[in-house]
Amino acid sequence: MSKQPIGIFDSGVGGTSIFKEIHTLLPYENSIYLADSINAPYGPKGKDKILELSIKNTEFLLEKNCKLIVVACNTATTNAISVLREKYSVPFIGIEPAIKPAALNTKTKAIGILATKGTLSSALFHNTSNLYSNGITIVEQNGEGIVQLIENGNLTSIEMETLLKTYLKPMLEANIDYLVLGCTHYPYLIPILTKLLPKHIKIIDSGLAVAKQTKAVLELNKLLNTEILNSKNEFYINLKNTEVMQALLGNKFKVDFLAF
Ligand code: SIN
Repeated sequence: MSKQPIGIFDSGVGGTSIFKEIHTLLPYENSIYLADSINAPYGPKGKDKILELSIKNTEFLLEKNCKLIVVACNTATTNAISVLREKYSVPFIGIEPAIKPAALNTKTKAIGILATKGTLSSALFHNTSNLYSNGITIVEQNGEGIVQLIENGNLTSIEMETLLKTYLKPMLEANIDYLVLGCTHYPYLIPILTKLLPKHIKIIDSGLAVAKQTKAVLELNKLLNTEILNSKNEFYINLKNTEVMQALLGNKFKVDFLAF
């Protein structure tokens, strides 16, 4: 049993989509969420910078005594998680685009993946994509600009709609029947994506799989908090404007500014 918190970090507010899945599955787990929004987006940054920021975020969470760390950012996972696992002794859970279920279930033999440049250009992504690309067209799309709009609380604007239409076009032309969301910010776009996509196209993200994996790793390491008490969930963002994150989380949780 461990009352120590789970640590979760993201380049910004998007990883709250992962926190929600974890909290739904593991409501008694305490947690600390760190949004490095001042450095968002990570997607266009180089591997060394993403690693440097990921180490900084990890050390913040370890100082807070976290027992496990969820890298709730696809870009940080694909570029930094192997180093983090070598460097620190706590278990790390990463987020990878759900290519496997899409590739195994596609009927049109074409799937789309929307992710950041940092994720799409990583070796980890290439390896996974190569593993499942046999006989299947994988349409990769860099979602440049989307994270920044979400960080600004701009989920449903004309600007967002125009950007998404541009990014979805090559996927629709390739006749995809699965759209894989390869960034933890993107699940917040599911309402607008559902509006823009034909009904037969399924949208999948990694949130639930990550929550299940978190539970399994806690169990395996005998780290589950078995005390049935209301959990303590802390949220920190290094931007003075906490409003966007607060709106995404709702009033049940309180978001605090923290300079780091
Ligand atoms: C970003 O910061 O550019 C996106 C985060 C992610 O890849 O999940």
